[in-house]
Amino acid sequence: MTTPLPPPVSPFQRLGRLIAGVAPGRPPIDVSVGEPRHPVPAFVGPVLDAALADFVRYPPIKGTPAFRAAVAGWAERRFGLPDGTVDRDDGVLPLNGSREGLFHATLTAVRLAGGAKGPRPAILLPNPFYAVYAAAAEAAGAEPVLVSAGRDDGFLPRFEALPEELLARTVAAFHASPANPQGAVADLAMLQGLVRLARRHGFLLFSDECYSEIWRGRAPDGVLAAAHGLGDGLSGVVAFNSLSKRSNLAGARCGFAIGDPAFLAAWAVFRNVSAPQVPLPIQAVAVAALGDEAHVVENRRLYDLKYAAAADILGDRFPDLVPPGGFFLWLDVGRWGGGETVAARLWGEVGVKVVPGGYLSATGADGVNPGADFIRIAMVESLATSREALSRLSEVLS
Ligand SMILES: Cc1ncc(COP(=O)(O)O)c(C=O)c1O
Repeated sequence: MTTPLPPPVSPFQRLGRLIAGVAPGRPPIDVSVGEPRHPVPAFVGPVLDAALADFVRYPPIKGTPAFRAAVAGWAERRFGLPDGTVDRDDGVLPLNGSREGLFHATLTAVRLAGGAKGPRPAILLPNPFYAVYAAAAEAAGAEPVLVSAGRDDGFLPRFEALPEELLARTVAAFHASPANPQGAVADLAMLQGLVRLARRHGFLLFSDECYSEIWRGRAPDGVLAAAHGLGDGLSGVVAFNSLSKRSNLAGARCGFAIGDPAFLAAWAVFRNVSAPQVPLPIQAVAVAALGDEAHVVENRRLYDLKYAAAADILGDRFPDLVPPGGFFLWLDVGRWGGGETVAARLWGEVGVKVVPGGYLSATGADGVNPGADFIRIAMVESLATSREALSRLSEVLS
């Protein structure tokens, strides 16, 4: 649980080193990065055009009232919350993508704890984890505590099983649902268990929900609904989301934090002297994007087609390959030699670039790296290109 982590390095840099000097076996297809390639929604150009003159202005750190209202309104509609559940003044903060938000929120959480949780407070992370969680814990001088989210754990971390002493000195816990890379989804009861745990031990629950709109079957629950359902408003929880996955706008760098107004107000004071603001024309795009569901429904339709193709091509070897959320395949290739071996072969033999699962996770105190046997494939390309990548994978795993 508390083994020191290796220094934070991007999994893509590690992948670059793994295949350095190896020529791709066929014309390359890169399905390593979780960057949506569906089209930019048609309304984005005209909205940017109309707001162009606002690029001359420094944006307010808390965003415009219209931005905050759009985020709050979207969250309330999406998660079935009564109007006004999200505080329009202090309950929303714009972020330059959720990644920088996850990082800076951690620095603020540790700062605000002010030593009350001991000289080196704990930050809980699932394992596998999105790299910024560990980088943020390290930068904040906190102890990153890895909690396994492997197959035996249902691909979600069980923070409630941790010792009381550790929970008592925890400042924040990262939780991702839908999870990257596994695509697992926590139900409302599980999220409520996490909220109760966080409130009981006085730590913040940072709920990374950037894949919340990419799902199959049923829309995932979120931490805002979980907290609201328990009473006491949104205290102790912050949901992180962005336009990157929902609206195919990763390059716009527009995200938002929603939740505990006391924490977000204190964070805004610190952000005002330390963090980047979101440009006003980009905030206008967010207002339009969060008011439109048609492009999000279309996105899900396109991902559905690709998952159907994956089930068709690989279903005989991976019966449970379609996850309930997110846009990745998380394939256990242990019987073919594990993630690194298969990733290297895929590149060298058929030109397909995927991430070895072990680069998205670390070795826990039990000596196990829960991602080592896996590869992650991003289903972000067109249907034809995704089909081609999966057929080549099928050849290598035949
Ligand atoms: C789990 C997870 N959280 C957060 C992010 C950050 O996304 P963004 O900064 O574009 O909102 C990503 C991006 O890939 C991610 O996979």
